[in-house]
Amino acid sequence: MKVLLINGSPRTNGNTARALQEVANSLAAEGIETETVWIGKKPVRGCIACYQCMEKSLGRCIFNDDVANRIVEKLPTADGIIVGAPVYCGQPNGAFLAVWQRVCISARKHIECKPAASIAICRRGGSTAAYQCMNMPFEGLNCPLVTSQYWNILFGMNEGECEKDTEGMQTMRTLGRNMAWLLKNLKRGDAIPRPADEPWQPMHFIR
Ligand SMILES: Cc1cc2nc3c(=O)[nH]c(=O)nc-3n(C[C@H](O)[C@H](O)[C@H](O)COP(=O)(O)O)c2cc1C
Repeated sequence: MKVLLINGSPRTNGNTARALQEVANSLAAEGIETETVWIGKKPVRGCIACYQCMEKSLGRCIFNDDVANRIVEKLPTADGIIVGAPVYCGQPNGAFLAVWQRVCISARKHIECKPAASIAICRRGGSTAAYQCMNMPFEGLNCPLVTSQYWNILFGMNEGECEKDTEGMQTMRTLGRNMAWLLKNLKRGDAIPRPADEPWQPMHFIR
């Protein structure tokens, strides 16, 4: 079993990377593999609402010139998904949101129903708002949200400073164990299948 970890920070070795590493170590101890995709420092696009990914059922974004489709390619083989992002101005950082919104819209079929978690990292404030924001796509895609002993948040300013937030680091380890616990239970031969969905009733509030 494999969990895809997405590092939304522009810092390679920042606090988001450290948080995800702590989760990865915890998952490894439970026998679960991880793969990390870093969104990097290069320019990224926001969604332009062309709807081509949906109308043509592309399963990926029409734009291939940034990291979005590299994430999309990793999704089909992921049993679980964890996104991590730093808090900028009380929100998840813009580059992460720009990429992740395109991934969620174009590759929703590879995210749907998979156990998922968000992690928000900040110096002082805004982490719970960012955490809530990051959970929103998962909540609309039937994903069981994986939680921990506290909200999945961590504090630190400079690279590696989050190590001093010992409770936050413990929260990361618990998150890894909880993800492993859920994945193992869902994979059991006697797991009860998810009930069938009703046909979707799109409702755009147009009369
Ligand atoms: C543009 C910008 C805005 C930020 N806004 C906030 C904020 O609103 N609240 C906060 O507590 N920290 C804020 N920070 C600090 C980062 O959240 C913090 O340094 C975090 O650890 C960065 O994670 P990283 O090392 O993974 O990039 C901001 C940092 C930057 C660069």
